[in-house]
Amino acid sequence: MEPTVGAQNERGMEGDGRKQHSASYTAASGTVAAGGAGPAATAVGGGDGRHALVPLEDFPVLNRTMRGKPVAYLDNGATSLTPRRVIEAEADYYRELSANIHRGVYQLSEEATERFDRARRLLAEFVGAESENQVIFTRGTTESINLVGYAWGRNRLKPGDEILTTELEHHSNIVVWQEVARETGAALRFIPVDPETTALQVDRLDEVLSSRTKLVAITGMSNVTGYRPPLRRIIEAAHQVGARVLVDGAQLVSHHPVDVSSLGADFLAWSGHKMCGPTGIGALYGKADVLDEMPPFHYGGDMITRVYRDHATYADPPQKFEAGTPNIGGAIALGEAVEYLTNVGMERIAAHERALTAYAFEQLSRFPDITIYGGTDIQDRAGIVSFGLGDVHSHDTGMILDGEGVAVRAGFHCAQPLMRLLGIIGTVRAGFYLYNTAEDVDRLVASLDKVREIFG
Ligand SMILES: Cc1ncc(COP(=O)(O)O)c(C=O)c1O
Repeated sequence: MEPTVGAQNERGMEGDGRKQHSASYTAASGTVAAGGAGPAATAVGGGDGRHALVPLEDFPVLNRTMRGKPVAYLDNGATSLTPRRVIEAEADYYRELSANIHRGVYQLSEEATERFDRARRLLAEFVGAESENQVIFTRGTTESINLVGYAWGRNRLKPGDEILTTELEHHSNIVVWQEVARETGAALRFIPVDPETTALQVDRLDEVLSSRTKLVAITGMSNVTGYRPPLRRIIEAAHQVGARVLVDGAQLVSHHPVDVSSLGADFLAWSGHKMCGPTGIGALYGKADVLDEMPPFHYGGDMITRVYRDHATYADPPQKFEAGTPNIGGAIALGEAVEYLTNVGMERIAAHERALTAYAFEQLSRFPDITIYGGTDIQDRAGIVSFGLGDVHSHDTGMILDGEGVAVRAGFHCAQPLMRLLGIIGTVRAGFYLYNTAEDVDRLVASLDKVREIFG
């Protein structure tokens, strides 16, 4: 089932306190006029943020309530909701096949293999890989980065070498490199960040990038402020000094079109659960020559060609990096998620989120007690809004919003170095996706009054 453009998208009127969309939104001005849900307010939107891009019925969680209220799900930076067809794809694998892949000489195994291999092809196309053999299934971004750290970093780096990263990174893209640096004697360096905007000071790249730099490990999109570094410029500069570049695509791949071949990144890591897929499945893209040179990450079945008493020979990528039985159902369901997002269109999703972000910036900026971290310049920032309300702890705000049916993230978002740079201990974070609407933003903003009532 494809997302049915033009279908109704009310959250249901079943007498359980759930409401229709009630705001009418003008993307250009970023203003919302209050009003009932007329015909336009129930149509699937065209990417202006006014209406969801898909029928909300596609997402079973949006048909339930939270604390007795309709769910305004704004924790997309952490994980996205799962569409029915993705849930069904995973269930179908267990219901209809349940067989292992690659080894079976019977129909169930062959069909499972076909579905698994198809998912890899879909993922490869989705990120613009030259070949499906460059896409390795992993448990997610964290494991993908660890794979590069262990198989590439630990074998390649030595004292005198440098790994360049940023203080914007999720802990997954810092802690791995701290450990690789400790083990190899390489040094860890950081591209300076402007604390006002959280933008990288790329004009100061020369101060930290040199022929000693062997790897640049950089986020494609901050999970705290939604800021997107100028990747192409950084990748070109890194290649000029002979460094490899790993892009943490956990947020980027789920919210923006990505063409890794034209971007030129050597590695791209991402997670299925942030792009409408299941948890526990994700991927690593690698350039063919780097993957060929790299030793395996894990050892065991499925990654070998021959095994003798005292040694073994290894399969070519991607099998070389996929020891053991993989998450077959998860991979198949992730392929389904890729098709779902592709049918909607990543450009449209990005435009929709940009409009919602602009609207959220505008609405939140009306209140002098709100601080929006990273500023409100929409140019290189979208999809995520991080803010603080007076001196109220983000967890208190998050808990009061929960009582209003509004799901946000509160805390340091696995980005303590960035929190330190901003001089704070945490933020309230709202992240948008294809099923969010201006009404979700309105509910967030209105619910903040409750926080003021209690803490004011
Ligand atoms: C930018 C970024 N990198 C890495 C991760 C880690 O992803 P996972 O927990 O799926 O491995 C996240 C998750 O929030 C993220 O936002």
